[in-house]
Amino acid sequence: MSSTASHLNREGPFNPFPGLRALERRLGRELSHQLGSNEGLDMPHQALKARLGDDVARLARGYGDAEAFGVRTRLRQRFDIPMDALLVDAGADSLMALALRTLCDVGSAVITSAGTYPTFRYFAEGQGCRLVEVPYLSEAQYLAPDLDALADAAHHHHARAVYLANPDNPSGHLHSDADIDTLCANLPADCTLILDEAYHDFRPQNAESRVRDGVIRLRTFSKAHGLAGLRIGYAIAPPGIIAMMHKVRIHYAVSSLALEAAEIVLDHDEEVQTHIHDVVARREQLAAQLRALGGDVPNSATNFIAIRMNDADTAAAVQKALLDEGVLIHRPPHPALGHVLRISAVEDALVPGRLAALERTLTR
Ligand SMILES: Cc1ncc(COP(=O)(O)O)c(C=O)c1O
Repeated sequence: MSSTASHLNREGPFNPFPGLRALERRLGRELSHQLGSNEGLDMPHQALKARLGDDVARLARGYGDAEAFGVRTRLRQRFDIPMDALLVDAGADSLMALALRTLCDVGSAVITSAGTYPTFRYFAEGQGCRLVEVPYLSEAQYLAPDLDALADAAHHHHARAVYLANPDNPSGHLHSDADIDTLCANLPADCTLILDEAYHDFRPQNAESRVRDGVIRLRTFSKAHGLAGLRIGYAIAPPGIIAMMHKVRIHYAVSSLALEAAEIVLDHDEEVQTHIHDVVARREQLAAQLRALGGDVPNSATNFIAIRMNDADTAAAVQKALLDEGVLIHRPPHPALGHVLRISAVEDALVPGRLAALERTLTR
């Protein structure tokens, strides 16, 4: 049985626009007279330059490198994985949609956890998949996707894909690489694990980045690298799966500005690492403060904390009280986790009094 969408099990479709940079690499020289791709290369961009600078104006004029050669080269070196196991796209969300488009037919079953990062459900439904949700494992100070239940459901429903965010959003829970090994071993052979690692960079440095059979890892520059507004992320997967993803990807989805920005932050990893260190310290401080008030705060391996309230009504009331003061925190839209509140571990969350409405409820 095929593990990808049935209409892709043939030659093609072939991307008609591999792009100028790819052509230059193939020819081994630069093409200095670009008369062939109808971009607005002669737009003076006075207003844009005045506002955002010459570099932004220069990058804005041309399509980005559809092969993201510079970013993938850096990632290959960093993780010691083959170039053709890497695909750069417009963020982890975009990669998630691409993975679903690659793997699923209309009606394919896909499995996820009830209340996890809701974009998966949104995209799966939009793709015509049959979504099956399994409950989280939940104990005091512990909230985690249930890996055995995910695998059981994959067998029971003959699923094409299982989605797991690791570390998870909104619980913050991290399953170890050994746990993921076991999950992979327990999945049906034709079922792909979409392993959303948007928060990977907040894991300890030795976290695994290897290419795994049957797994599409999704990563992003939105979190630890602070490039959410530019939309860029990457997938790590076996070259055969990456090749299938290329058949259905929007080839110029990643802007030239996003590509250049990602290269710059990858070249300045010390700044990223300092930032991660600071975020982790803030996250632990926030968790400790709320636990000291009796809050049920599971361990988080991300840039946020989750806190479980007694029930969804209490959580909604706290969220509303904070919103009335202009403070936005997140409450998952899924009823299964409506009693959870999620708070980003930014400096502002630690300002005394900022979360007063939450603190009052905890000490009541
Ligand atoms: C688990 C998870 N996956 C993906 C994303 C989206 O990442 P991107 O901005 O790269 O699309 C988020 C953002 O909150 C997330 O929490």
